[in-house]
Amino acid sequence: MSSQRKLFVTTALPYANGKFHIGHIMEYIQADIWVRHQRMQGHMVHFVGADDAHGAPIMIAAENAGVSPQEFVGAIAAGRKQYLDGFHIQFDNWHSTDSAENTELAQGIYQQLKTNGLIATRTIEQFYDPVKGMFLPDRYIKGECPTCHAKDQYGDACEVCSSVYSPTQLINPYSALTGATPELRSSDHFFFKLSDPQVVEFLKTWTQDKNADGTGLPRLQPEMAKKASEWFEAGMADWDISRDAPYFGIEIPDAPGKYFYVWLDAPIGYLASLKNHFDKGQAREHWHAPSRTSASFDDFLADPGVEQVHFIGKDIVYFHTLFWPAMLKFSGRKTPSQVNVHGFITVSGEKMSKSRGTGIDPLKYLSLGMNPEWLRYYIAAKLNGKVEDVDFNPDDFVARVNADLIGKYVNIASRAVKFVPGGKLVAGEFAQLKPVQLVESIKHLLETREYGKALREIMAFADEVNLRFDSAAPWKLAKEGKGAQAAQVCSECLEMFKVLTACLKPVLPELAKQAEAFLQCAPLDWSNAALPLGEGHQVGDYKHLMQRVDVKQIDALFELPPEAAPAKQVPGGEELAPTISIDDFAKIDLRIARIVNCESVEGSTKLLRLTLDVGEGQTRNVFSGIASAYKPEDLVGKLTVMVANLAPRKMKFGISEGMVLAAGHADEKAQPGIYILNPWPGAQPGMRVR
Ligand code: 2FM
Ligand code: ZN
Repeated sequence: MSSQRKLFVTTALPYANGKFHIGHIMEYIQADIWVRHQRMQGHMVHFVGADDAHGAPIMIAAENAGVSPQEFVGAIAAGRKQYLDGFHIQFDNWHSTDSAENTELAQGIYQQLKTNGLIATRTIEQFYDPVKGMFLPDRYIKGECPTCHAKDQYGDACEVCSSVYSPTQLINPYSALTGATPELRSSDHFFFKLSDPQVVEFLKTWTQDKNADGTGLPRLQPEMAKKASEWFEAGMADWDISRDAPYFGIEIPDAPGKYFYVWLDAPIGYLASLKNHFDKGQAREHWHAPSRTSASFDDFLADPGVEQVHFIGKDIVYFHTLFWPAMLKFSGRKTPSQVNVHGFITVSGEKMSKSRGTGIDPLKYLSLGMNPEWLRYYIAAKLNGKVEDVDFNPDDFVARVNADLIGKYVNIASRAVKFVPGGKLVAGEFAQLKPVQLVESIKHLLETREYGKALREIMAFADEVNLRFDSAAPWKLAKEGKGAQAAQVCSECLEMFKVLTACLKPVLPELAKQAEAFLQCAPLDWSNAALPLGEGHQVGDYKHLMQRVDVKQIDALFELPPEAAPAKQVPGGEELAPTISIDDFAKIDLRIARIVNCESVEGSTKLLRLTLDVGEGQTRNVFSGIASAYKPEDLVGKLTVMVANLAPRKMKFGISEGMVLAAGHADEKAQPGIYILNPWPGAQPGMRVR
């Protein structure tokens, strides 16, 4: 090995509002394989991740859950380890963007950008929710699409006709949080001047540059570099990096009530996690720079030899190839040396939603006793260095893992060891199958993230070894009294098994560990991968190295949870809704309500306007479609049951703050009749119904 590389490697920071799905796990596996490959080379690597904790959606989710945002993201963070350990993903550190390190770094970077004249202040007009008392992100404004007039569309784009617009173009906009009609209000925002000529010039060169590792590889994949040039052609707009309180984020220095937009502090979280790692002291053990005695985060990043490598998905390229390098460059910091972009994972050809995931639940996979390295192998076999989607196909998964890992690789050891008396290797023609060439090729393919190709070459090599075994037929040789010949062929096969183990090690670290134990060899790395164990080397007893995938396991993995099972038909009645859990039911807060007033609604034959007392010290306004069944005066003073935690809804006649419960047939026209619920005497307004 010529010189040791110093690498700082990251994966995209996941939002702290959901569990990991298979898409996260795929990215972590991709990066983890690369990192393990680098470590086998003897390079120094700091591989870090963190939770992306800030932003309006997390703030609102926490509020809905009735906890502080810190508690909310803390609970999510606590669930991360089981996934990472479960799939043998070896981050050196896991941190959070909601941390002291990130606050300090983000504020510092911002100050530098400001000093360099790259922050502008502009007054912008934005929708404000007067009920909630906050400016609304586009996603929280709904209304009628200005193009196709579909109702209840988001503020940024229509899901029906796909047109893109700004929230102010919506017809009859309303706040998705409270149902209130939003007001346009102006407020000062800070912008990062990406359109500044020096920034544009820098990015134009940076995106087309070579990688800093001296391999001559480009910094960005060709398809991404091309995308970047298209973006420059379209023109760079300045980037709005501030948000007004209330916001869960980092305060902007000298600007009370202003916070950094989550996407400003998110990538800075990479640095924050690295800093946290260094400050904990663990990093120093890996620090081998001969000219320094004590290393710090600042020393490390100031070292021009350090390479910063990001693994990300194709949906967040803009942030990582434009905003992020520009932020780093113009705050006087090191810029990334590579940004490695991957596609999405589909399951049986089906796209999955970013927030919910789909198809494969990683924890369910583990709980079924499925080997995490099967998944590592299968995903690796599908990955290449391009920005292509990867499909998980259950039948293909079973076939590949069983045929390759058990049928080809493990098979070599289990068959060959039987004909090596006492497990003591004899001299053979080690170099015949060209192990050195294999190792060199695999190293190159792993370096360039051509994992699929690497695994195909490895399996082709395993085929050759098996062929050698089969054509020599050691079982026959042994019977014919040619035991020495059998031992020689089988010693060669075990030597090749060792070479294969080294090549598979970044993908299958646990399996490789067991194989090393069987081979009784030193931990394999790229310096010893192609060296023979040698004549007289003693291997251990063979214990079965890996189970085959059982088709039943994969069936169980894809079995739908009970709540998603199809609904049963109820004789003579309406179809029963899908089963829910007690937790689902507990989400609905039913309360006893007193109807303190009731009026008909002008312009509506269906609705009555109810004024309800739910024991809150103030009344609620609820519209109910019961005008055909009740006269307003008959209801005044009565008790009923309402859904008290239903999000307020803006209706044509005003805001409805809940819903009263009433029974009726599904087909109201065919079988008319609506009956509102009425509790037994003794129930009081505000009591919960459970
Ligand atoms: O898209 C996402 O899931 C973001 N949370 C990724 C952030 S990556 C980095 F910038 F932190
Ligand atoms: Zn539309």
